[in-house]
Amino acid sequence: MMIDLSTSYLGLQLESPLIASACPLTGSIESLRALRQAGAAAAVLPSIFKEQVEHDEMEIVRMLDFWALSSPESADYFPELNSYNTGPAGYLDLLADAKRHLDMPIIASLNGDSLAGWIRYAGLIEQAGADALELNIYQIATDPGMSGASIDDTYVQLVQVLKRELRIPIAVKIGPFFSSLPHLADAMVRAGADGLVLFNRYLAPDIDLEDMRFIPALELSTPDELRLALRWIAILRDNVQISLAATGGIHSAHDVVKSLLVGANAVACASALLSRGAGVLTELRDGLESWMREHDYANLEQLRGSMSMKKCPNPEGLIRANYMKALTSYTPSV
Ligand SMILES: Cc1cc2nc3c(=O)[nH]c(=O)nc-3n(C[C@H](O)[C@H](O)[C@H](O)COP(=O)(O)O)c2cc1C
Repeated sequence: MMIDLSTSYLGLQLESPLIASACPLTGSIESLRALRQAGAAAAVLPSIFKEQVEHDEMEIVRMLDFWALSSPESADYFPELNSYNTGPAGYLDLLADAKRHLDMPIIASLNGDSLAGWIRYAGLIEQAGADALELNIYQIATDPGMSGASIDDTYVQLVQVLKRELRIPIAVKIGPFFSSLPHLADAMVRAGADGLVLFNRYLAPDIDLEDMRFIPALELSTPDELRLALRWIAILRDNVQISLAATGGIHSAHDVVKSLLVGANAVACASALLSRGAGVLTELRDGLESWMREHDYANLEQLRGSMSMKKCPNPEGLIRANYMKALTSYTPSV
């Protein structure tokens, strides 16, 4: 039986659902080429941060006006950021190069939290040839005067404004911490989002007890983390008609199968690639194909969404009943 792994994501035709997610490996032509050869059907470049773009625009103003505008707080992290993602100018070059040399969709990524002086940059990304833009919205609420609804509005407005500026599709990568994801997803759809990427990992800082300072901490994901996206994609799939991508904890072919069953159009992995190399993609693709062959699926349409909340045999397993069952079925080992 011929197995067809092709899928549509953000209106783009992908040869398989396997996307190399934004991470250091998608930041150079050499490693992008290795990812493509191993089976990536698309890649998301590392994010460019709105602070970097704003900083660059300020630098331009400064040079033009000979106006010594210093921003000491940025001195710390811009050189580091620029070596992570090549900086705003280098980013456009990487994008154009990737488009020239690789026969797969290249998705650019912008990380921001508000409407700011970087909308123009999104236009430059489009001009440089990006097939789509992934908008990673990362806002940490610290002000008790700001309601969840007003934060949701900021997210939605960001999408609305970018949608007016751009012709390429926009995917929105968000974290899981919203009071009502279905409500936000619905608002995103109405604002014109073409897809949602679930979920961004909010990397909480640790405390260095010697220096008494918060320090950044990053651990790669484990397969357990995928369950969060599985639940929410299962719930959202029946409510929104846009593309959904699962990210966070995709390490095996079974993780890919589960993501498709709940209704994902694509899966995006980073940790598995960083820990085991680009070859993981070949393993995921071959494993997905074997699973489909064993279970008599010829294409992804036949399995996609068959375990969404409305279609699965036990929807209560996605909500409160799951919690009660999980607690009562636990057997202490001591
Ligand atoms: C070292 C590292 C760098 C990352 N950089 C970015 C980034 O620039 N932009 C972004 O949206 N996500 C970034 N991510 C998140 C990944 O794209 C991915 O969504 C997340 O790690 C969950 O997938 P995983 O479990 O396969 O790692 C990064 C992850 C890692 C581990």
